[in-house]
Amino acid sequence: MNMASIGIFIFTVIYITAGNANTGFVNVQCKTENVGQYGQLSLLECTVKTSQEATDLEIRTVSWKKEGVDEPLLVFHQGELTKKQPGYSFAEPSWNSRNMNVSLHITNTAVEAQGVYTCTVVTDRGFTTSETSLKVTAKYSKPTIISEPEKITQSTGGTLVCNSVGGYPKGQIRWFGELNEEWTKSAEMEVKQTKSGLFDLLSRLTLLQGSTYSKYKCAVFNTSGGKEDEAMFEVPEGRDASGRLGGEPGKPSAPVSTIVAPVVVIGSLIVGLLVVMVILHKRRSRRDRREVRTFESEAEEGGHQEMDKEYQDTLA
Ligand SMILES: *[C@@H]1O[C@H](CO)[C@@H](O)[C@H](O)[C@H]1NC(C)=O
Ligand SMILES: *[C@@H]1O[C@H](CO)[C@@H](O)[C@H](O)[C@H]1NC(C)=O
Repeated sequence: MNMASIGIFIFTVIYITAGNANTGFVNVQCKTENVGQYGQLSLLECTVKTSQEATDLEIRTVSWKKEGVDEPLLVFHQGELTKKQPGYSFAEPSWNSRNMNVSLHITNTAVEAQGVYTCTVVTDRGFTTSETSLKVTAKYSKPTIISEPEKITQSTGGTLVCNSVGGYPKGQIRWFGELNEEWTKSAEMEVKQTKSGLFDLLSRLTLLQGSTYSKYKCAVFNTSGGKEDEAMFEVPEGRDASGRLGGEPGKPSAPVSTIVAPVVVIGSLIVGLLVVMVILHKRRSRRDRREVRTFESEAEEGGHQEMDKEYQDTLA
């Protein structure tokens, strides 16, 4: 016998001995990794498997525990649930001791629900135990982009701020230009973890004066590099070199000068006309009032009524 076959022989002996002693051909098989959505119902899947001889198996005890938590989450013992922490239950709605599906349901899955769980089952033919893990994910919100300052143009430059919140695990915000070239290196990302354990992402992309393109895309990627969602921002063209006259942010602006020039010309004409009319009117009423005063001094008494009426008419 060489070393390898001795090794295999020893391993086989230990395996068979351990198997017989602990399980008596009863085995609980769990899905190694379960994924739960934040806030949703999660399933930790485990089933008791038996060999051919072990038909009519009856389960005496089921105990679900979580690594790092002392108290068991769910215990079934001798026909009843002896322990049940809020939020945990058998996945099978009317589970009984003949049901080999001992899966666990977790309601309203929180970030802390992540971890390793152990399911131990005692039957009338022996006991068995297995581990299973839960990963929690939460989808990031659709990103929103604003500019700082509010009005920017391609010639002014500025900062684009992209925000995407409420995701798990930690993700990344990336920036792309109009030819899909990546700009993430020019950006800075801030990550905040909320009380509930979720992550809020915020990224600032600096646009340099004059070297700015018309469109930028902000995309949020999950921890495994899958794109979850994206948003687009259009930077107005803004021909004015001083950059004071820009269009609405998010819309390409029409060349500003072609709209503004006629508006200014027509506006000045109207204003000028109004000024002239007001001056003419004032002059006329001043002259009228002078005439009224002359008339008053001439017709000392009796003429008052008539005079007042005429005076008021001129004012009206
Ligand atoms: C166990 O029960 C749950 C809940 O009814 C079900 O979703 C799951 O598919 C079952 N697993 C097996 C292996 O039958
Ligand atoms: C990441 O996103 C991809 C594509 O949307 C998806 O298939 C994958 O399940 C996600 N992974 C996680 C951990 O959320």
